[in-house]
Amino acid sequence: MGKLPKFTDPNLIVGIETSDDAAIYKINEEVAMIQTLDFFTPIVDDPYMFGAIAASNALSDVWAMGGEPKVALNIVGFPSCLDPEVLGEILRGGADKVKEAGAVLIGGHTIKNDEPQYGLSVSGFVHPEKIWTNAGANVGDVLILTKQIGTGVINTGMKADMSSEKSNKEAEIVMASLNKKAKEVASKYNITSCTDITGFGLLGHSIEMAEGSDLTFEIEADKVPMISDALSLANMGLVPAGTYKNRNYFSGKVDTGKCSENVLDVLFDPQTSGGLLLSLSEEEGKNLLKDLEQAGLDTEFALIGKVVDKDEKSIRLV
Ligand code: CO
Ligand code: CO
Ligand code: CO
Repeated sequence: MGKLPKFTDPNLIVGIETSDDAAIYKINEEVAMIQTLDFFTPIVDDPYMFGAIAASNALSDVWAMGGEPKVALNIVGFPSCLDPEVLGEILRGGADKVKEAGAVLIGGHTIKNDEPQYGLSVSGFVHPEKIWTNAGANVGDVLILTKQIGTGVINTGMKADMSSEKSNKEAEIVMASLNKKAKEVASKYNITSCTDITGFGLLGHSIEMAEGSDLTFEIEADKVPMISDALSLANMGLVPAGTYKNRNYFSGKVDTGKCSENVLDVLFDPQTSGGLLLSLSEEEGKNLLKDLEQAGLDTEFALIGKVVDKDEKSIRLV
């Protein structure tokens, strides 16, 4: 990335430098456009479910920035040897999620590829003064996570035939759930920073938010919601390669306290279409938890820690 030319534009509010989720371009004083794209290869066997998860993941970055997705285009790679009906199911899964998101899907582009790939390019809108970045947390804020973690471990367990039907199902619900409802509920509050939890895992994305805010996040490991069996599968070593990558890359920034190895593995587990991590004042956080309870999310949410003065490490596990 270092060799790419730099782009500057007075209307580019969020660009590449803050490792935020998407680009934001101000159109006028009232409206800014959020632009993002995401696609990947199948992570579950069922094509409809794969489409739904990939779309849910691609749409997520718009909510993570406080916006509303409005227009989506399909990005598709598909091998000529596979039944076109499979592609139809992938696209149907994606389209259903775009519909649920309240956005419109208006075509896209397909190329021939050895492996199926699917995702979306998404445009959304946000008021320029209501953007959620990953860099505005304040000391004393609480941290709220809106989905349980562990999808990488469960997927690894699934491939090895070691995970239970129950945890596989739970992981699918987590991955396919839109962050829409959580975002809408949270919009009533003064969210000081937000990100969605994806490839860098809960701790990797928390580090980005803590560093962006120039503070330390204190996370209570036993309060973090995890998919059933995630800890026991991690204990058996059913951990994806991405977890080790995340641990190696970020471990110098985490005071791991008395955290056991399997808990650390799940905290660093790369997530597919993970939840939102939000920071806001303690007082507002209490009310947000009540509202999330009332909204009836399909996923587990919890207050998992708080923002403290800057320490040597970005994250302190307690
Ligand atoms: Co993101
Ligand atoms: Co993304
Ligand atoms: Co074309």
